[in-house]
This record gives sequence, structure tokens and C-alpha cells, in this order.
Amino acid sequence: MKSISIFILASAFFLSCNSSTKGPGMSASHQKIDSLLSLMTIEEKVGQLNMYNGTWEFTGPVPKDDNSQRKAEMIKKGLVGGMLNVLTAEGTREAQKLAVENSRLGIPLVFGYDVIHGYKTMFPIPLAQAASWDQQMATEASRIAAKEMSATGLNWAFGPVMDVAPDGRWGRIMEGAGEDPYLTSVFAKAWIKGLQGEDLSDPETVAACAKHFAGYGFAEAGLDYFTVNISDQMLYNAALPPFKAAIDAGVASVMNAFQDLNGIPATAHKKLQREILKGQWGFEGVVLSDWASINELTTHGFASDRREAAIKAFEAGSDMDMESRIYEEELPALIENGTVDESLLDDAVRRILKMKYDLGLFDDPYRYSNAENEEKYLLAKEHLQLARDAGRSSIVLLKNTDEILPISKSVKKIAVIGQLAESKDVVLGSWRAQANPNSGVSIYEGVVNALPETDVQFKQGYTLTEGERSFRYDLNFVEGDFSKHDDAVALASSSDVVILVMGEDCFQTGEGRSQSDIGLKGNQEELFNRVIEANPNTVVVLMNGRPLAIPNIAKKAPAILETWFLGSEMGHAVADVLFGDYNPSGKLPVSFPHSTGQEPFYYYQKNSGRRVPNDFDSDMVFWVHYTDTNKEAVFPFGHGLSYSDFEYGDPEITAIGGGIEIDITLTNTGEITGKETVQVYIRDLVASETQPIKRLVDFAQVRLDPGQSESLKFSLDREDLGFYLSSGQFVLEDGEFEVFIGGSSEDTKSRKVSVNF
Ligand code: BGC
Repeated sequence: MKSISIFILASAFFLSCNSSTKGPGMSASHQKIDSLLSLMTIEEKVGQLNMYNGTWEFTGPVPKDDNSQRKAEMIKKGLVGGMLNVLTAEGTREAQKLAVENSRLGIPLVFGYDVIHGYKTMFPIPLAQAASWDQQMATEASRIAAKEMSATGLNWAFGPVMDVAPDGRWGRIMEGAGEDPYLTSVFAKAWIKGLQGEDLSDPETVAACAKHFAGYGFAEAGLDYFTVNISDQMLYNAALPPFKAAIDAGVASVMNAFQDLNGIPATAHKKLQREILKGQWGFEGVVLSDWASINELTTHGFASDRREAAIKAFEAGSDMDMESRIYEEELPALIENGTVDESLLDDAVRRILKMKYDLGLFDDPYRYSNAENEEKYLLAKEHLQLARDAGRSSIVLLKNTDEILPISKSVKKIAVIGQLAESKDVVLGSWRAQANPNSGVSIYEGVVNALPETDVQFKQGYTLTEGERSFRYDLNFVEGDFSKHDDAVALASSSDVVILVMGEDCFQTGEGRSQSDIGLKGNQEELFNRVIEANPNTVVVLMNGRPLAIPNIAKKAPAILETWFLGSEMGHAVADVLFGDYNPSGKLPVSFPHSTGQEPFYYYQKNSGRRVPNDFDSDMVFWVHYTDTNKEAVFPFGHGLSYSDFEYGDPEITAIGGGIEIDITLTNTGEITGKETVQVYIRDLVASETQPIKRLVDFAQVRLDPGQSESLKFSLDREDLGFYLSSGQFVLEDGEFEVFIGGSSEDTKSRKVSVNF
């Protein structure tokens, strides 16, 4: 009897939620949530904080093995709030049924998954998307990712990744927008807009999750999961701004990070989560732990046992426990005996229920599990077309001596060389959600499809890896095997042009993929030296998910295309650029150093007291330099050429009422239409805390026909010109600024101007 009457109560709740979605929103949802909360036991409340992994096939309502059975039992009791890794419309529907049809209050589950560059149709990896500097493309790509994943019942994307990553050794640099806080903030907004759309309850949009809060990308020595020791100045000015931008863009959730930040693990960082995120920034969404990161508080030596870990993480503001199973075990007793305040529990549960409410799950818990759309949307033709467009705009032309690119379509014989050129799998990138293995278009295929009448031959040349390649395990790199070099060199010498594809396996980047050396692995460099000698008409195509240290190649190759991992349509996108069907427009979101030893290497360094050689004796060693390598970039942040030429006029830079206005004329002096990304950097010349020599504050993309000019105007406001002190306070300081404008961080025109705020 009891359970029936409660079920009626719960159903009445859903019905009233249903009607309220047409009403004024927020306050109505608060009321509904409060009334649901008042029905919940402490166990049920804590249950909402649990996120279970669900890599179990649902062939019926109750999974077979014990572990799955336990999960199912927990769900049926209403003791699970959400799941990750539950796949297919059918699978999510079955799991949802367990919760909705069996639990006392029938509260629906939310389903999360790591979708950062596509679900089935793969788009360029996020770092590559950032290289396009094209926000609209990024929004479109994530909109399609949302459409595909939501059809399978998933409604919570664990992305975008907002980790500013100044160190190329860190493998997760591929997941975000690179080294720059401003560019990452711009992409935060673009990706969130694509995933969440205008209305979270639209069944084709999903909740986004800005991760990993915070500082994760500054891992010491580029070592994933490792300690982060950064100054508060770096924290406030570089690590936090993209998260703030994500909050301002209305992101529904935030995931915290594994590492410790200046001595406090991020998962238990009260100042980060309670004071800054939920306090100063007023974030009302969900804070999700990273996978088992609450449990890892004990391994960090920050909690003596699981009980203390629960207290520290929860009191610090981690609302939801992903796979530590600590909250479910420890929190009910801690609440009941008063160790942890029940108001904190209510706050956390409210956040989770609110997200479910906003997703429309109380209206219809099955709205996302749509087998018909799943069939229709996954790998839809128009999604693949967009993946190709996104791929082309993410490519960066690093070097093009004597305009060897684009390659004429009338060449007779083309050699495509390199193990990576043939792979239909590496192109998909790491963190590839549900991409079908080996389903991408290889570069070799792309070239053949572009020129079906031409003699295009392939040789493997180098061997980068052998054996099984996988997301989970280390790769087997092959160093000393030169056995396939001769064949490739022979093909190179007998061809009109060589396309030499080099770089990384996609599983060299991603989680747990740090490298102590960011040069080329395997026997690639040796092959390059021979091929370039055999045929100087060689175009190097790089595939990689991090900046590379390749000074020899940068010097000797006449043309270099940076093509990252572009997803399902990679080969077609690369061929479009190689043969001039698309004029390259990408710009680097990371700096390429001469040597790994320069890492962490980013353009917004400080001046220091001795940046340049002393005027009166430049031979002396007492200035900032290396004795064995160049300290500058080989290819700087923001660099990227085009098949057009762009000429920048003299900028007019004026201080206006506490801001700066910049006027500049850009002309396409080349012979074809092209797109340029005009970048604006500033330097605050004298400040109460030392400032970077340059930092990006604005940019614009302009498409110009040959001979066409356009006048551009940029307005920098207080937000652009101020900075955070180490105390966390944002300040505006009167004085002189240098403003730089140009096509790369190192190719700019500059003027000085005084500003009074
Ligand atoms: C990663 C997260 C990811 C989570 C769930 C963790 O290992 O750090 O980025 O969302 O796993 O797959």
C-alpha cells in the first residue's frame, strides 16, 4: 500500500513539472525540486550523488553478472543519480526503466559520456578545432556531436576541456584549445553553445561539463595526474579564466581534477570550488568528481581513510561522486550523526535535480533514447560533410617555400609515404567516443580520391609502432627498423612530388600519454633526411596531437602542413588543401619549440630582467638564453600561412575613455580568395605585478578576394586591459600599453598608448 501511494505522489510530481515547463521557469523549478526533496530520505538524497559506470550490455531489465546485478539493485532502490558509459538508445532506455519504474520516487537517471570531438562522426580533435580559430565551426561540430549522442539516450557530455596547456609533453593537450587562456575562453563559449543550444530540454541538446577544474594542464614536467605548483598569478590569469567564461556561457556542470594544486587536491579544494566557483562566480550547476578522484584523496595523503575523503571532498563542494562509491558508503552516517551538515547535502541534490529538470527528464525520462534518430543521425551524410569542412579549416600551413603548395592537379606521379598516411584509424584521434575503428578516410585514400586519374603510389617507409594499438595501453614504438626505407626512397626519387606524412599515433596523446620528448618517434627523422635528398619536391604533412620539436624538418622541408587528427573525413580534408580546393586558414594554438627542453613553452612569457643580450657586450652569457639551442619558437603561437598574401596597413591606435580602439586595413595582395585571422595582443608595460610580453585579447577572421581591402576596428575594454593580482583581485592600472596587431604572435605591428581608467 505504502509504495503505491508514494508512487502516486511521485507521478503527481512529474505531472506538475510537466505543466510548469511552459511557465516562468527558474522559480517554478525550484519549488518542484524543493517539494521532491522534502519527500526524500537521506539515503535517497545521497543516492542522487552517485554516478556509476555502466559498461554492461542491457539485454533485459536485469543484467546477468553479479556486479551489474548490484548496480541494477541500487538503481531500483533510487540510490544512483547518474551513469556514464551506458550505450545505445536501447541500453539507456533499459537503465532508465530500472530507475523510473522501480525506485520509490521514480527519479530519472542522467547519462554522461566523454564526447569532446564527436560521438560517431569524428570531428577534428579539440586542439585542431582551436587551430581554425573558427567559433562557428566549433559550435556546429559540437551541435552535431550533441545530436548524435542524445539520440542514444546520453544527455550529459563530459566536455569541453578548459585546461590551458602550456606544456607539449602533456598528452591531454589534444583535448583542449592549447596554451592560451583567451583562445580557450572563446572556444569554451563556442563548444558550450553547440552542446547545450538555447534550451537544455530540447532532446537534441545535452548538458556540457567544463573540465578539469582547475590547473590540471600545468602538470609538473608535463606528467599527467602529477603535481601542479603554479603561482596564484598564473592560476588567476591563465588557468581560471576559461572556466569563468564557461560559467558565463551557462555551462550546466563542472568536473574537477585529479591533481593537487599547490598542495591541495583539486577534488577537495574548498577555495576553488566553494569560494571561487560556487561563491564568487555564483555557479548553480553540478560539480562532478573525476573518475575515483575522491578515493584518490587517500593516495594523495590528504585523507586518512575513505570517511575522511568523503568529508573533505563533499565539504569542499564536490557534489557528485564518479565511481569512488564513497559518498554512498560514508555520507548517510556522516549526515545522520551531524558531522556533515544536511544543508550541504540538500544543496548538492538540488543542483543535480535541477539539471535533470532542465534536461526535461521529469517531463519524459525517455526523451533522449530515440532508436529512430539513432539510426538516422549517426554518421549522417551531412555530418560527414561538416566533418570535412571542419577538417579543412583546422589545417595550418606552417611553411611554403617557393609556393610548392598547392600541388598542381596535373602532376603525373605522386608518392605518398609514411605509415601514418595509410591509417584509417589514427585519423580519428584519441578520446573518440563511439567512432568505429578504422572508419576514417586515410590521407592516402584522400589523395587517390582527389586525383583518380593520377599515378599515386604508397610506401610505408618508417615504422612508428607495431602490434596492437589501443586507447588503454602503451604503444610499442619501433626505433631501429630501417628495413622499409629503401623502397620509399626509391619511390620518392621516381615521383614528381612526394607527400611525406609524419608525426604521432593518435594514442600518443590523450589521457596518461605524457612524453619526455616531443620530437618524432620511430625512425621517421632518418627517413625524412633521405627522402628530402632524393626528391626536394617533398611536402611534409604532420599528424599529431601536441606541438612537436622538429627543427631539422622545419629547416629542410620546403613545405609543411600541420593537419593534427581531423576525424572521419581527414584524408579528404587534407587533399582539399594539398591540391588547392581549400585555401588554408588555420593558425597555431600552441607554440612549436626547437627542443623539448624548452617546455613548458608558451608565448605569454614574462620579460624578466634580462630578456635580450646586454647592449654593451652581447657576447656575454648573462642573459636569458640556452647555450645549446634557440629560446624562441620555430613556429610561434598564432602562426599560419595561406595561399593568399595579406598586407597589414599601419594601425591607428587610440585611447578612448578607459579603453583602446584600433583601426587597421587588411588587403589581400595574393591571387586567390583567402581568410586571415587578425590577432590583437597587448602588453601592460609597467604594472604592480609583472606582466607577459604579449597576451592575446581579441581576434577577427576576414575573408578577402584578391585585391580586396577591408578596414577593421577593434575595441579593447576594461576586461581586456585589466589583470588579476596574485590575491585574486581584478585591477585596472593606468599607464602605458603596447598594442600589437598582426597575423601571428611574432609577426605584428605595434604602437604604444597611455590609458587612464
Ligand atoms: C578523465 C575525465 C573523464 C572521466 C570519465 C577520467 O579519467 O580524466 O576527463 O571524463 O575519466 O571517462
